[in-house]
Amino acid sequence: MDCNYVQEAAEYVRARIGETPRIGLILGSGLGGIAEVIEDKHVIPYGEIPHFVCSTAPGHKGQFVAGRFGGKPVICMQGRLHFYEGHALSDIIFPVRVMKQLGVTSLIVTNAAGGINTSFQVGDLMLIEDHINFMGTNPLIGPNDASFGPRFCDMTYTYTPALRQAAQEAAQSLGLTLQKGVYLGCTGPSYETPAEIRAFRTLGADAVGMSTVPEVIAASHCGLQVLAFSLITNMAAGILDQPLTEEEVIEIGNRRGSDLQRLITRIVTDCSAL
Ligand code: HPA
Repeated sequence: MDCNYVQEAAEYVRARIGETPRIGLILGSGLGGIAEVIEDKHVIPYGEIPHFVCSTAPGHKGQFVAGRFGGKPVICMQGRLHFYEGHALSDIIFPVRVMKQLGVTSLIVTNAAGGINTSFQVGDLMLIEDHINFMGTNPLIGPNDASFGPRFCDMTYTYTPALRQAAQEAAQSLGLTLQKGVYLGCTGPSYETPAEIRAFRTLGADAVGMSTVPEVIAASHCGLQVLAFSLITNMAAGILDQPLTEEEVIEIGNRRGSDLQRLITRIVTDCSAL
């Protein structure tokens, strides 16, 4: 990825927004509601930004929304790119680097995921404590641009402990149950087989999805704090005796997205580390 491309994109976005954003948000399938409540809003469709690739997934809009949220300056990706759409991982992580270039210091990510942990229920929120990259590739492959980060990027504290703590406190203060666990990222677009889900459980995964891992690796590489949540939209394949459908993913997103929004609002408002 050309560092100048990131700079050009960031300059274009900077000229179209107000305040310097400090928090970046990437909102998952059916979870774009936060973008609707951002104040002093500046909306920039990805298609207008130099070097950006547009999003096509269902439930995804494809625009940056910058403004104030929870009293803090934010920039939100309403819609993200997925590897299964055929995009290069370098395109998928491009917006993360643009956000970094704009002045963002923390990234909050949400996704829809299948529950692997059998103590989870459909509609549960899960704080991501760690991930397993099962995509078979890595967004940092290729020449390393040291202006973003080191060649060999430490991933030990990727999901920032202080932010996880803040999330748990916020959930408690709102009376929301917050599961926690390991997110395993697959490429999709086919859902997993029951045998794969059993294997992933043995590997230590609690939830499975088709996003987040590339963006989080890129965020960690360029030194951003990370906080991430999964909304368990369905139990993963084979756990219940029924097929998985895209409709249930969107439906649960619509139904439970508001609690996730309340949680993130509370964290952003209260957490001094953000
Ligand atoms: N598998 C993969 N991705 C998903 C799922 C799932 O079960 N649910 C929502 N996104």
